[in-house]
Amino acid sequence: MSKTIEKILLEFDPENISLLPALKKISAAFGHISEKDMQKVADYFEVPLSKAYETASFYDQVQIKKQPNLVIKVCSGANCAMNNSFAVIREIENYFKIKAGDEFNAKVKLEIISCLGQCGEGPIMVINNKVYNNVTQSSVHGILEKWL
Ligand code: FES
Repeated sequence: MSKTIEKILLEFDPENISLLPALKKISAAFGHISEKDMQKVADYFEVPLSKAYETASFYDQVQIKKQPNLVIKVCSGANCAMNNSFAVIREIENYFKIKAGDEFNAKVKLEIISCLGQCGEGPIMVINNKVYNNVTQSSVHGILEKWL
């Protein structure tokens, strides 16, 4: 049985403290929260639509825009940077002809993120929540091709 917004909302008490957990769960289930669904959330919790958006916008785990098929994140923390994570980032930018942080490409998005706590295995790259470690400028093409 597929989940609906309504079913997910019913898992939470309609109290302010449950707003964020509900937003996280809906975002995780559907990849993002559409405007129509955000209105359902606001109605359920009896908060203004602006409050639902404001809460969502503070947290990276809650997506309010439809995400590209491929979301690539590369760590730029000190240890990963020392191990050439910026060369990996440039390689990905060249491969897809995009710039890190651009929101314009509907298929792929590259984000530079801070330390993920796996510093000894850096550079760390995450593609759609799958973590790759010890990524190098030369190994990144092979990894990307598995996703295309
Ligand atoms: S610096 Fe990259 S995981 Fe810590």
